[in-house]
Amino acid sequence: MNRKSTKSVLETAHRLRCIGCDDRIAGQDAAEDFRCRSCGSLFEVEYPQLFSPESAGRKAFHFGVHGIKKCWLDRRASNLSLDRSGVWRFRELLPFLENEKNIVTLEEGNTPLYRLPRCAEKLGLENLRAKHQGMNPTGSFKDTGMTAALSVAHERGFEWVACASTGNTSAAMAAYAARAGMRALVLIPEGKVAWGKLAQSLDYGAITCQLKTDFDGCVSVLTELVRRAPVYLLNSVNPYRLEGQKTPAMEVVEAMDWQVPDHVIVPGGNLANGSALAKGFRELLALGLIDRLPHISVIQAEGANPLFLSLTRYGGKKIEPVRAETRATAIRIGNPASWQKALHVLQETGGWCEQVSEQEIAVAKAEIGAEGIGCEPASAATLAGLKKLIAQGKIRRGESVVLVLTGNTLKDPEYTIDLHRGTLLTAEENTAMPPALQKELASLARAPQVMEPSVEVVMRLLDKAVRV
Ligand code: F0G
Repeated sequence: MNRKSTKSVLETAHRLRCIGCDDRIAGQDAAEDFRCRSCGSLFEVEYPQLFSPESAGRKAFHFGVHGIKKCWLDRRASNLSLDRSGVWRFRELLPFLENEKNIVTLEEGNTPLYRLPRCAEKLGLENLRAKHQGMNPTGSFKDTGMTAALSVAHERGFEWVACASTGNTSAAMAAYAARAGMRALVLIPEGKVAWGKLAQSLDYGAITCQLKTDFDGCVSVLTELVRRAPVYLLNSVNPYRLEGQKTPAMEVVEAMDWQVPDHVIVPGGNLANGSALAKGFRELLALGLIDRLPHISVIQAEGANPLFLSLTRYGGKKIEPVRAETRATAIRIGNPASWQKALHVLQETGGWCEQVSEQEIAVAKAEIGAEGIGCEPASAATLAGLKKLIAQGKIRRGESVVLVLTGNTLKDPEYTIDLHRGTLLTAEENTAMPPALQKELASLARAPQVMEPSVEVVMRLLDKAVRV
């Protein structure tokens, strides 16, 4: 282990603030599990020189408001990896490394902000878009966070990195570790990780342990392990992950000509991503680059809904872990580490937390697929949640909405095939489905058809399809 000496909090461009007791520590003084030694809460990264009122942070921005927007945009046309990365082209807002040479990047980010015209029309919305984070190098939003936090591990001289994962974090971590020549240890729940994700972890050379437990059980083992062995924890309790994951906020407003969407909707699992995006928007607001925050809402699967229950039962005052069960395996999490961060975001931005059923996720996934972009089941929860928020009158026709699609459709082909073959849901789930939803699912399903290799047979099928 080659850890560098600890700098004083004042010397560093960044420090960590405990969200529980407001304590400030230097980045290198964080505990191995990234919990506050005084109160056990999580940290967030702070940049006193950029954002404190007395330092009038804007001064640090030599470019000025228009200059910085142009600089960020111009970097997309550069041939340097750092500039081409949709995370590091915003590096003025990421001053937590000592040396840019330590950055490990796969040129992540710069993902598309697609319009969803057919979904919008069905819902009576004028402006519905999807920020497709599944278009990142390893196919999920985790890449934006991984380039940030793994670069810290690299800079601090760690050889090993580790995470507990429902599959996407491990895929991203394995890839970035391989790029850096570091070693990766992955803990995943046996049998509950989509094949695409498991395959990635193996492909990128990680040591992959399928533990006979769920995600929450994997987290328990890992938390103890990082205390005993010199491995760097890369779960989203690591606050540097969220620094990378805040950058899609910059991309969204940039792609909307610096207008802020009225609503941003994310799927909720371990509940870190909403707060990462909120931090991005908050920093843009503090710098005067935007004039308000969007409402940020979090959608959970009914079978993995601890935040939803915390709000409906206890007004958000406490959370009770649940035994999580959902086919959207990415968000199959019963004891989310970052629930207080998520709660704060809902309160700060006036967003909501909703839960959606397996049937609603399935229909939404097919609808996003039918737009020609696809996504993984957890991501589709955002569209299912949007429908609920519209039905409750919380989101209105004229308002702009951005759904954050967190993972690529190719991550979990088994789910998609089962959905279209009609074998995804149980008989009970099918019966319990409202008739309108049943009809919708049936109209979207496109089961593959096995047939003789004859032009006539295929023509007959085509004819039938034209008449429908
Ligand atoms: N969507 C996808 C595709 C995910 O992989 C995850 C989390 C989430 C949403 C939820 O994000 O945890 O910030 O609320 N996946 C983690 C993993 C837990 O291990 O890949 P969150």
